[in-house]
Amino acid sequence: MILKLEEVHAYYGKSHVLQGISLQVAAGEVVTLLGRNGAGKTTTLKSIVGVVPPQKGKVLFEGHDMAKLPSHKIARQGVCLVPEHRGIFKLLTVEENLTMAARKDSAWTLNDIYRIFPRLQERRKNGGGQLSGGEQQMLAIARALMTHPKVLMLDEPVEGLAPVIVDEIVAQIRLIRATGMSIILVEQNLQVCTQLADRHYIVEQGRIVYTASNADFMADDHAKDRYLGVNLTA
Ligand SMILES: Nc1ncnc2c1ncn2[C@@H]1O[C@H](COP(=O)(O)OP(=O)(O)OP(=O)(O)O)[C@@H](O)[C@H]1O
Ligand SMILES: [Mg+2]
Repeated sequence: MILKLEEVHAYYGKSHVLQGISLQVAAGEVVTLLGRNGAGKTTTLKSIVGVVPPQKGKVLFEGHDMAKLPSHKIARQGVCLVPEHRGIFKLLTVEENLTMAARKDSAWTLNDIYRIFPRLQERRKNGGGQLSGGEQQMLAIARALMTHPKVLMLDEPVEGLAPVIVDEIVAQIRLIRATGMSIILVEQNLQVCTQLADRHYIVEQGRIVYTASNADFMADDHAKDRYLGVNLTA
């Protein structure tokens, strides 16, 4: 297991949001965190990267507990979160955004990035603020790759994007997966989740209430209905 959470508890002030999250991700595996609004998906990702530090429990990365580490040290270990609201530099060009994020020892070069995201190459001299929403999302993921992560976490990467762009980003995430990257994906779009994931977790009120392989989950209308209130085939 590259990443393993054991009974992680986290709070916002007095509000006990994560109530014992346990999950694991194998090297090269893509898992999703599913669940209704407010279930604790984003908070789980934030607790892994130390932005919302766990008050109890373990976050084991390659066997070592990171739960007490500051977020910059966690990032340096190779755990990278692409947050929901992108956070790219609007006044810098696309290429500057990328080279700024690069780590000296990164296995990822600009050429590798441009092979996955040809649109970013076309737009490399454009300012980050001139990009479309989809291109900004691509740049946010590309920037994360430049930091040479071992675990990449994506929080709602296709939210609000047009279907053709969603398909493009799904194809790009597949290419990233093919490099052997371990990925945790939080996404409301179930079709996207089932196209990408090996396994799913469902979060409810700050706990994991269900896990299944992609095939088992796709066949399990009861789970989809009960925990998500959706039906994939509808
Ligand atoms: N900064 C914050 N301060 C206080 N409470 C927060 C904060 N962020 C989130 N919460 C609360 O924590 C709970 C979990 O929120 P979280 O953002 O993790 O949910 P989520 O599963 O990502 O939901 P969504 O699908 O809406 O993104 C919710 O009740 C939310 O209102
Ligand atoms: Mg969220």
